[in-house]
Amino acid sequence: MNPNKALWEKGDFTQIAATMRGSGETLVGSLGIRPGMKILDLGCGDGTTAIPAARLGAEVRGVDIAANLVASGNRRAQELGLANCRFTEGDASDLRDLQTGSFDLVVSIFGAMFAPRPLDVAREMVRVTRPGGRIVMGNWIPNDPTLVAQILRISGAYSPPPPEGFISPVRWGVEADVLERFGAAGLPVAAIDCRRDTYVFECEGPPAGLLARFEGFYGPTMNALDAARANGREAELHAELEALFTAQNQSGDPARTSIPATFLRVTVSV
Ligand SMILES: C[S@@+](CC[C@H](N)C(=O)[O-])C[C@H]1O[C@@H](n2cnc3c(N)ncnc32)[C@H](O)[C@@H]1O
Repeated sequence: MNPNKALWEKGDFTQIAATMRGSGETLVGSLGIRPGMKILDLGCGDGTTAIPAARLGAEVRGVDIAANLVASGNRRAQELGLANCRFTEGDASDLRDLQTGSFDLVVSIFGAMFAPRPLDVAREMVRVTRPGGRIVMGNWIPNDPTLVAQILRISGAYSPPPPEGFISPVRWGVEADVLERFGAAGLPVAAIDCRRDTYVFECEGPPAGLLARFEGFYGPTMNALDAARANGREAELHAELEALFTAQNQSGDPARTSIPATFLRVTVSV
């Protein structure tokens, strides 16, 4: 089994995505989407960005490596009557089923960053975008003090060392790496804009409830918990995560959770 696919099919990211819908809509609203635009959402999950884009009238194709998330996305699109939004299984590092130059906009929010072989990912994103089109990526930033970068850091500290040659997904949050990868795909530095932006995780209930979603359904945290349990360190990991979630809650109401997280927003003109 492909370990990248296994990681995301192990959990159920829809449980986390449900807390990210507001930011997904805000981000999509900032992309200048017009009816009829052809959009690829890579690593789309169950459609946090694909579905609002389709609501604006775009022709949206969501591609994700996890079969359960593709099924959830198609279910949501069908329930909403969005015949212009279709989800299929695929790997961001090998988009052989998609034609060269066939999309006006390729969006990948915390998606393609998790695919192996980042040089292939950059090359494939550029290949399927039409000349004059755009790529927009959202990538978590290594060592950033906000929520997701810290979850990934803490989870990594309790997990076994990655296999030889593994390239950390958060290197997509380092501007120099982004420039190098799109440079290798043939794009000049001037075509690439990197800036910080924010996603907010929001749900009813205290931060412990959001943490329970990550512990129960987010592949990287689930794997860390499995490894910590095997080493008798599960309680220690849980306590570290609980302190993080509690400290980061900015709702001002202990019965509600609102946690902002900083990411690198990359816009590439092809
Ligand atoms: C953190 S979730 C984000 C999902 C969605 N973009 C959102 O904003 O809700 C990461 C997503 O990337 C997908 N993914 C991971 N590796 C992938 C790959 N190699 N190709 C395509 N999708 C991938 C996962 O299955 C998962 O749906």
